[in-house]
Amino acid sequence: EQRPILIEGPMPIEAKAFADRLENVEQETSGIYDFYIGTVDDYPVIVVKTSKGMENAAAATAVAIERYNPTAIISQGTSGGHDPNLNVFDIVLGKRTVNIGALKTGDKTENEGIEPTEWIPMDLMASEGSAGEDPDAENIRYYEADEDLLAAANAVKDKHTKGKVVEGTIGSADVWNNEVDRIKWFHETFGTSVEEMETASAAQIAKAYEVPFLGVRILSNNKTNDGEYNPDTATANQEYVYEVVKEYIATY
Ligand code: 5AD
Repeated sequence: EQRPILIEGPMPIEAKAFADRLENVEQETSGIYDFYIGTVDDYPVIVVKTSKGMENAAAATAVAIERYNPTAIISQGTSGGHDPNLNVFDIVLGKRTVNIGALKTGDKTENEGIEPTEWIPMDLMASEGSAGEDPDAENIRYYEADEDLLAAANAVKDKHTKGKVVEGTIGSADVWNNEVDRIKWFHETFGTSVEEMETASAAQIAKAYEVPFLGVRILSNNKTNDGEYNPDTATANQEYVYEVVKEYIATY
């Protein structure tokens, strides 16, 4: 039997447009995770509405892997720009994904204050020892995109007409950053192109099970260049990802 392709979207506006394009759809639910099980070009494709945030993305990914044994996973949705060269409606293909909430603070005693710019990236997957003490954990853990998924996405770039499609680094945490200097710090420290709240978490679980993975994120806002929030970006991203899925089915 053919193993399905899994498409993840956090909010209803980030999952429904794709789910509506599936044929022969049946719905299943596990916890709060809604799975729309159908086909694209007669190939099995499942859309899951994960809800927002790192925990929901991880849980929905693990449940989906155990229940449906997907052959590939695409995490898609909206994001906020960290790169001033990217505008609302541009799409970032996550060549790399990174958890920007995984940090170790400096060492300070009482009344020495809080200095976020001194915090350093922390890699929870570096070893089985204490991340607070292990020097190997003073490292940035990047999750690399699957080459075939990335190639399929690059092959249909032109189908997205409302903005450009670029490769970049997706940063994730359960934080919405509106401080431009802090955004700059992430951009410089982690090389982030955009931020959102799901991709690195899903990528970590996909990696744990060795399932090919790609994040595809459209900018719905960009604080670094006054790009105002536009929710219509969510549908535009799903239309593009639908083309990516068709290309992947046809080619791989
Ligand atoms: N910062 C964080 N998350 C964002 N999202 C869109 N823009 C941003 C941003 N600037 C996405 C997250 C989450 C929801 C709040 O929207 O992935 O699902």
